[in-house]
Amino acid sequence: MKKDILTLGIESSCDETSVSIVKNGREVLCNIIDTQIPIHEKYGGVVPEIASRNHIEAISRVMKKALEEAKVKISDIDAITPTYGPGLVGALLVGLSYAKAFAFANHIPLVGVNHIQGHIAANYLTYKELEPPFLCIMMSGGNTQIIQVKSYIEFEVLGKTRDDAIGEAFDKVARVIGLGYPGGPKVDKLAQEGQANIELPKTHFEEETLDFSFSGIKTAVINLNHKIPNINHADLCASFQKIVTETLMENVEKAVQKTGIQTITLAGGVSCNSYIRKEFLEFEKKGNKVYMPDLKLCTDNAAMIASAGYYNYISGKRDSLDLNAIPNLKL
Ligand code: KG4
Repeated sequence: MKKDILTLGIESSCDETSVSIVKNGREVLCNIIDTQIPIHEKYGGVVPEIASRNHIEAISRVMKKALEEAKVKISDIDAITPTYGPGLVGALLVGLSYAKAFAFANHIPLVGVNHIQGHIAANYLTYKELEPPFLCIMMSGGNTQIIQVKSYIEFEVLGKTRDDAIGEAFDKVARVIGLGYPGGPKVDKLAQEGQANIELPKTHFEEETLDFSFSGIKTAVINLNHKIPNINHADLCASFQKIVTETLMENVEKAVQKTGIQTITLAGGVSCNSYIRKEFLEFEKKGNKVYMPDLKLCTDNAAMIASAGYYNYISGKRDSLDLNAIPNLKL
């Protein structure tokens, strides 16, 4: 009988310290997430140095809890699979250094994981039948990309943001209108009470491209908020969300036409957005198949990293103990 493969994922690229053990890339045995959101909330965003310190404080506790909850012996783990980029360098180094020490001390192979590959893999945990090829719309606080997922370990970026990431735009708009951090969920909630009746500009590129730009929309919202002090914030959020989603969907349609691939997956924190999810359900009615990961797997967590780590491991990828954190790692 084929032996089960257990991967232990470690995620610390931003403000979540997380450890997870996943069986055969698809079954989550534990997914412990220690979030620092309440710590960074008072600063209106993630403070990198504070994030690193809190990862150091949390990592051993989170690891212990994960091993207890999964009820597996360390000797049963086949690979230690930490995120090594992209992300905040100090934050990444905590999880990666811990992973290297753990792998070395317990004689377990080390297999690094690209954080974006992890977000894509969140779909494999929610949908057991899903296999590449498909398109992935990656929407997070640091990235916005349309990715052609050719296999479990081969990717081509078809389009990306040329300025702000989509989540960054949500967070900045939220901050300016006084909603606090993290802004995305707060904009989403307030938008449900408003009407998308405020005109905002859409950015168009001269050339044929699948790239995005969100900074013009964000700046327009910020300027309107300054110029009209009593502007209805719920309407502003609803209008912002609508124009951002339209910008997104136009390129998704183009990507489907260009590649002929009609299987679409979502990934990253912004894929929790209720309006974006609704629009993708509409998109499905046009003959496309859309996969949306469980909400708790969309934002940063180590289960998605352990799943991606499994596919790296079975494809033969191994890293040595000099693996370094790469803050701007590309897919
Ligand atoms: O994927 P993630 O947890 O971290 C990164 O890897 O960046 O994404 C965090 C981003 C933040 O910008 C947050 O505001 C946004 O996801 N977000 C949302 C929603 N939930 C989280 N944005 C819009 N609507 C939401 N419901």
